[in-house]
Amino acid sequence: MEQLSKIIDGKEISSQIIEEVKTELKSSGVQPGLALILVGNNPASEIYVKMKEKKCAELGYYSVTDKQPEVISESGLLSLIHKYNNDGRIHGILIQLPLPKHINEMNILEAVDYKKDVDGFHPVNAGRLMIGEKCFLPCTPAGIHELLIRYNVNIAGKNTVVLGRSNIVGKPIANILIQKSRFANATVTVCHSSTENIIEYTRRADIIIAAIGKAGFVAGDMVKDGVVIIDVGINRIEDKTSKKGYKVVGDVNYEECLPKASLITPVPGGVGPMTIAMLMRNTLDSALKKVYN
Ligand SMILES: NC(=O)c1ccc[n+]([C@@H]2O[C@H](COP(=O)([O-])OP(=O)(O)OC[C@H]3O[C@@H](n4cnc5c(N)ncnc54)[C@H](OP(=O)(O)O)[C@@H]3O)[C@@H](O)[C@H]2O)c1
Repeated sequence: MEQLSKIIDGKEISSQIIEEVKTELKSSGVQPGLALILVGNNPASEIYVKMKEKKCAELGYYSVTDKQPEVISESGLLSLIHKYNNDGRIHGILIQLPLPKHINEMNILEAVDYKKDVDGFHPVNAGRLMIGEKCFLPCTPAGIHELLIRYNVNIAGKNTVVLGRSNIVGKPIANILIQKSRFANATVTVCHSSTENIIEYTRRADIIIAAIGKAGFVAGDMVKDGVVIIDVGINRIEDKTSKKGYKVVGDVNYEECLPKASLITPVPGGVGPMTIAMLMRNTLDSALKKVYN
């Protein structure tokens, strides 16, 4: 039991958030609308979009999945975004990434009305996050933050090490946790592929957030006793014992770190389920004009 109690249950917390969304939805009288734009045939992207579609259906959101061929031009995609920007039934627009190489990702993300940017990737939302203003938070970092809050992790003043500096995970979670606000106020260090002696940072960390995409990178000897570990990584490794021939693991060596951690997320079942829950939350917030009027 002692072992189990230190495992952060992302499925349970994401269900709690979905229940909260359902309750608020019932009393609100709005029907949130989400446009999901999928370009090409990337199998992982197709699965992610299907999961989002399914969750919208479960909650009674209005959702449109707009599937476009790989060869769509940048201007074609921009016109599509303008259409949803001007559609009153749509409160959230999500562009499933990655986009084909011939399309400039930033041009596309910037074309989304920042008031409908429920993925939190528009520069206006990224900038407002940095300066501590109300904004749409990107869903995975927002989910990580919820896990820390709901497991009563003491964040203020804690030595927090973020591994990875992507625009979708590393940078935003670092920005969330350094804010001078309740449930934040951490001392944050961001490490990346050019960081020398990463172990010197991780060994001193009270909280580690690993988002680098390298299976089992954080080994047991890299962490101190009592550390809180949030593993964002989703990596496929060969597993001849499984039917699929692979299994999904995180960026943390779970078996080695579990005995030392005071709290740790498993993969799968940790951060993963939080992302869609936060997308649903953001879409409802958008429909209710909680972030922007
Ligand atoms: N919902 C979810 O659960 C969710 C959502 C998003 C992502 N993910 C997963 O999280 C992981 C990270 O995703 P991402 O999109 O943030 O990845 P990304 O864009 O590929 O960025 C990876 C980051 O890790 C750094 N890095 C790579 N190798 C490193 C090393 N050996 N030591 C230290 N830093 C290293 C890179 O440094 P440089 O900047 O120097 O290149 C980069 O900043 C992936 O496994 C992804 O599948 C999960």
